Amino acid sequence: MSKNELTRIKKEARDQIIQVKNIKELDELKIKYLGKKGILTQLLRGLKDVAQEERAQVGKTLNEMKEEIGSLVKDKEAKIQEVAIGAKLKEESIDITLPGKPLGLGKLHIITQVMEEIKDIFIKMGFAVAEGPEVETDYYNFEALNMEQEHPARDMWSTLYIDSKNNTLLRTHTSPVQIRVMEKESPPVRIIVPGKVYRHDLDISHAPMFHQVEGLWVDKEVTFSDLKGTLSIFLKQIFASDVGIRFRPSFFPFTEPSAEVDISCVICKGKGCRVCKGTGWIEILGAGMVNPRVLKNVGYNPEEVIGYAFGMGVERIAMLKCGIDDIRLFFENDLRFLKQF
Ligand code: PHE
Repeated sequence: MSKNELTRIKKEARDQIIQVKNIKELDELKIKYLGKKGILTQLLRGLKDVAQEERAQVGKTLNEMKEEIGSLVKDKEAKIQEVAIGAKLKEESIDITLPGKPLGLGKLHIITQVMEEIKDIFIKMGFAVAEGPEVETDYYNFEALNMEQEHPARDMWSTLYIDSKNNTLLRTHTSPVQIRVMEKESPPVRIIVPGKVYRHDLDISHAPMFHQVEGLWVDKEVTFSDLKGTLSIFLKQIFASDVGIRFRPSFFPFTEPSAEVDISCVICKGKGCRVCKGTGWIEILGAGMVNPRVLKNVGYNPEEVIGYAFGMGVERIAMLKCGIDDIRLFFENDLRFLKQF
């Protein structure tokens, strides 16, 4: 058992302990050197065969080696545990520097936005807002508006009837609210009526449910020029100050004379395109002077008062304002569409 041999064993043990990566391997080394059948135990056992004069010295060296290797193992054990705890902590830790999941803010539907815009313009011009039921009677939707049973003009509205015995239907326009308000209030009446209306229609420009804004002004002196002026101001504000405006003669049973109002095509600026069917003009609303028969039906005296009325489709205005080519997009509730407005 030469001194060199012992030094070599010591060095080998230290090197191996330093290189060890986990507790299992460390335990194996511990057994290899310090176990019951371990190298050092064997060496200590062989001490009795060492020459008397060297025994004390070799014994001392061996004991020192045992202690040294023991403490190397202990240190290494602590180190391995430390690394393991560190790794575990890292693995289980929460990265608080990550930004949180954004909470999407809701917003108003584009139709509601345009509706609000339309209302604002008329409210500033002195109109009050009125509302009425969506399930109407035949009387308010047609008869009081100068369309008796079998009147051919009823064909202008593809009506959804609810109960023919009770004469109930889904209102086809907001005009019945004209009657309901005038029945209750005496003139002057100056209202707009925003609301849902229903028709038996479905294609890229017609939906079975859509929105209208009705307008009505009845007073002692209301002229067609007032109607033209009010609608021109409205159209310039909702579209553009340079939008072209055209009044065309038309027919509605509840107005006389009646007009349809066109604006110059917002897509091609009046040059003619697919949207305006090459005409450069787009129909945007119906209007006219309130038919004296309607005034009579609500108990007003047509000799004393006169008025104008108009009605417009909100989806149509929104489509032209935003360049949307299919009305159905409004009601499919696809967030990719709705979020754009
Ligand atoms: N109620 C008509 C429609 O829905 C529009 C309109 C309203 C026309 C008022 C004239 C006056 O088509």
